[in-house]
Amino acid sequence: MSDRSIKIAPSILAADFANFGQEIRAVEAQGADWIHVDVMDGHFVPNLTFGPPLVKAIRPHISTVMDVHLMMAPVDPYIDAFAEAGSDIITAHLEAGPHIHRTLQAIRGAGCKAGLALNPGTGLDDMAYLLDMVDLVCVMAVNPGFGGQKFIHSQIDKVRRLREMIGDRPIEIEIDGGITPETAPLMSAAGADVLVAGSAVFKGGSVEDPAPYGENIRKIRMAADGVL
Ligand code: DX5
Ligand code: ZN
Repeated sequence: MSDRSIKIAPSILAADFANFGQEIRAVEAQGADWIHVDVMDGHFVPNLTFGPPLVKAIRPHISTVMDVHLMMAPVDPYIDAFAEAGSDIITAHLEAGPHIHRTLQAIRGAGCKAGLALNPGTGLDDMAYLLDMVDLVCVMAVNPGFGGQKFIHSQIDKVRRLREMIGDRPIEIEIDGGITPETAPLMSAAGADVLVAGSAVFKGGSVEDPAPYGENIRKIRMAADGVL
């Protein structure tokens, strides 16, 4: 495998909410590279999930990377709580408020890697003065708020342009939403490093029968790596 082999980050939004600890351990044993944790506030997005206490509770079950995606506004008052909960990466949305520069500074200041997420309708122009402040850019290939939505193809071109903008900076490009074995190679070819997948990883399996998680991860990985 080349250095550019893709990372797969299952989103626990598609796991059994009554059983996060076991679900995380099962999906890591089946080959997950990171665990993607979707925080929704019912305000920035029309759905609610959970907050810092739950993120802290699942932390001991994660032995890879805890990748926390904050779909919330405002973000700044909660950064310390998510950092103290053990986040490795905290990703905030460019659209979440007028002071994203300050938010990214605060995330790094709290000792975490800083991620910047872009909604499908957001262009790359506003990124120019932020590139030296981020460790990850998350390109949403669905409108955030729900799992199991349809992949938006216009985002492939955005990833291609973003890859060019990034140049040789140490920034990972993550894609979130609608990833399947069919869409994974499109994003991988465009320059993605990390693929978040919820429904496509968890479908058909359970903590009692986790082998389908592994098969699903392998299918996405092979499809993505096939084009590297
Ligand atoms: C969407 C979330 C995603 C979601 C992806 O708002 O940020 O992480 O779980 O789910 P799938 O892979 O089912 O599109
Ligand atoms: Zn997400």
